[in-house]
Amino acid sequence: MTEGSSRKKEDLIALALEARKKAYASYSHFPVGAALLTESGQVYTGCNVENASYGLSICAERVALFKAVAAGERRFKAIAVVTETMATPCGSCRQVLAEFGEDELQVIVADPEGQVKIYTLGELLPASFTSKHLPPLR
Ligand code: THU
Repeated sequence: MTEGSSRKKEDLIALALEARKKAYASYSHFPVGAALLTESGQVYTGCNVENASYGLSICAERVALFKAVAAGERRFKAIAVVTETMATPCGSCRQVLAEFGEDELQVIVADPEGQVKIYTLGELLPASFTSKHLPPLR
């Protein structure tokens, strides 16, 4: 996403903000919304979905990514994440994003008041472990 595509960035944040309204965050009371932009221009959104068995809860970013992959998408340009506190994706989500996203994937973090910060996945998860590090199957 370049300077010229700031409209797209704002649109992606708006979709993440909308997705956040659907968060099922009964335990943490920390709703998260995410919107993932594919290379082809499609957007898949996600929210966190918690569970009474806390460890089964899933983050908004992974919901968005899994929806996209289940729809046949494999190539991504950017993800916007909206939280009250400008939270960056957790370690598990960074790893899951790295399975499909390049180091250049833009991670746009925003809050409902309009604060925005942009990272790359490479910045958030340098020297990541990927399938490149797996030995050939024997
Ligand atoms: N959460 C996300 O959805 N994304 C993140 O990047 C960080 C954490 C969720 C998980 C849980 O439902 C709540 O936020 C509190 O950790």
